[in-house]
Amino acid sequence: MHLTDVTLRDGLQFEKLTLTTEQKFALFEKIAACGFERIEVTSFVHPKWVPQLADAEALSTRVFASPLAKSCELMAFVPNEKGLDRLVKFNFAWASAFVAVSNSFNEKNVNSTREASLDGLGRTAQRCQREGRKLRIYISTVFGCPYEGLISADDVEKVAKVVASFQPDEIALGDTIGVATPAQVREVLGRLAKFWPVHKTALHLHNTYGMALAGADVGYGLGVRAYDGALGGTGGCPYAKGASGNLAIEELNYLAHRQGWRKKFPTTELKQALTALKATGIEPRSQLAAILAKGGDWFGENKSG
Ligand code: HMG
Ligand code: MG
Repeated sequence: MHLTDVTLRDGLQFEKLTLTTEQKFALFEKIAACGFERIEVTSFVHPKWVPQLADAEALSTRVFASPLAKSCELMAFVPNEKGLDRLVKFNFAWASAFVAVSNSFNEKNVNSTREASLDGLGRTAQRCQREGRKLRIYISTVFGCPYEGLISADDVEKVAKVVASFQPDEIALGDTIGVATPAQVREVLGRLAKFWPVHKTALHLHNTYGMALAGADVGYGLGVRAYDGALGGTGGCPYAKGASGNLAIEELNYLAHRQGWRKKFPTTELKQALTALKATGIEPRSQLAAILAKGGDWFGENKSG
């Protein structure tokens, strides 16, 4: 199973507090210690649009100067080709780019129509191939949109077919506002599996209505092995009203460990990372973070010897 920590990008992009580069780097060190397979470090967005991530270059410089840069795969988000120009100055193995199924959300988020974003993604994919970078394409608002409401699986399939034609290394299905039911996850994964390999599919779930773990479980049953989460359930999307946090990575890891999908639950490292998050002034919001802080230690082991 493959976990991507998106705290430093999706987690921080919507927080009221803007952390300093040093605070972000300190968090990076704690997250890297947890042993996740990939970390999304930052976003090369316009600083006026997402001021919380205005230090993308400074943070990337700091991260790549650290030996921890080699401890897992590193990814950064690019909202457009200008963002990719900025990313390629660093040694990121992965770029992540975006299109939404909902045209309204696409326009609010990156100030371009869905069709224009798809055209740009085609060029981004070619450029990533030339530059030797792997590309994840997020398809957002797959299950629901703050402006257009329920999204149909037909529409998802249409957009996903175009995205798949660019042959990215991974497609991440984004439940941008955290409304997916397990049945929707099943339906959409079934549609995607008709033309896209499940081993190149990731689930990027938000947990606004508390259903993200249920969706992750359905995904696992259908063969998905790549999942995203953010420490303490931080995050949301600045352009998606009501979108609360990402699926908490500690809860995702806990589910994975208890279900036998993942050997390790890095208790000490996760607690330290959650403590580091809290020290920045951002309160971890997950139920498990609260339990761990109180000394909760139920990991399913038989204690009778
Ligand atoms: P725009 O204002 O339309 O940009 O913003 P433009 O192309 O009109 O250019 C205007 C100026 O911005 C120009 O500068 C450009 O060079 C500059 P000027 O000539 O005026 O001096 N510019 C840039 N500067 C720095 N970095 C760039 C860049 N691009 C243009 N990349 C833009 C378009 C995409 C930049 C803007 O809308 C933006 O930054 N949006 C960010 C949106 C965002 O980060 N949203 C959150 C991420 S998506 C998400 O969270 C969902 C996800 O988690 C999955 C899920 O949950 O579903 C991934
Ligand atoms: Mg997101």
